[in-house]
Amino acid sequence: MFFVDENVYEPAEDSFLFAENLAVGEGSRVLDMGTGCGILGIIAAGKAEEVVAVDVNPFAVRCAARNAKANGVADRMLFVQGDLFDTLRVGERFDVVVFNAPYLPVKCSGVSWVERAWAGGCGGREVIDRFICEVPEYLAVSGRVFLMQSTLCGVDETLLRFKERGLEARVVAERALPFFEAVMLLKAERTDLCV
Ligand SMILES: C[S@@+](CC[C@H](N)C(=O)[O-])C[C@H]1O[C@@H](n2cnc3c(N)ncnc32)[C@H](O)[C@@H]1O
Repeated sequence: MFFVDENVYEPAEDSFLFAENLAVGEGSRVLDMGTGCGILGIIAAGKAEEVVAVDVNPFAVRCAARNAKANGVADRMLFVQGDLFDTLRVGERFDVVVFNAPYLPVKCSGVSWVERAWAGGCGGREVIDRFICEVPEYLAVSGRVFLMQSTLCGVDETLLRFKERGLEARVVAERALPFFEAVMLLKAERTDLCV
């Protein structure tokens, strides 16, 4: 059961596709980037030892903490307000990093808290590209990144950007949405570990 504040993204098709394909090992450390109401982090906390849930939106952080308590996993979760990785300790490593990212081509400045859930800048890639650039520094040696995005902001470009940062990525799930768009879940891991 999830409470969703009016200033927070209400879980939708992308969240549900992500949740259906979320693979988290027993005892792992998970980073739930852009936690929203906490849906992915709370599901991950069913298996993980610790989940750090980050969101730039202070309403989301409060909402996720409330939902973690209601779902009995608050003792395994930490909640942090911040812009991507800027409030995390340098050297912190996670086995799994999940991010249902803002991916629509909508300018980021001057938007409301809830609009920041989907506003990905002019080309839709502003937050995604910053995320890909920084995520390798926070990934355990055999860690995995799961990133959700739309076909509207260039899946091939995401694959290329991961590669430039030493991660091999591929599409592991997708769902068509109305109006020529599909959402895709990408999984990325270090190149030297891929078979
Ligand atoms: C599409 S919503 C996903 C919410 C939730 N994970 C889900 O699947 O329903 C994207 C989330 O990313 C957050 N977000 C946007 N830009 C961010 C940033 N720069 N740093 C951290 N979180 C950000 C938004 O506030 C929003 O909660």
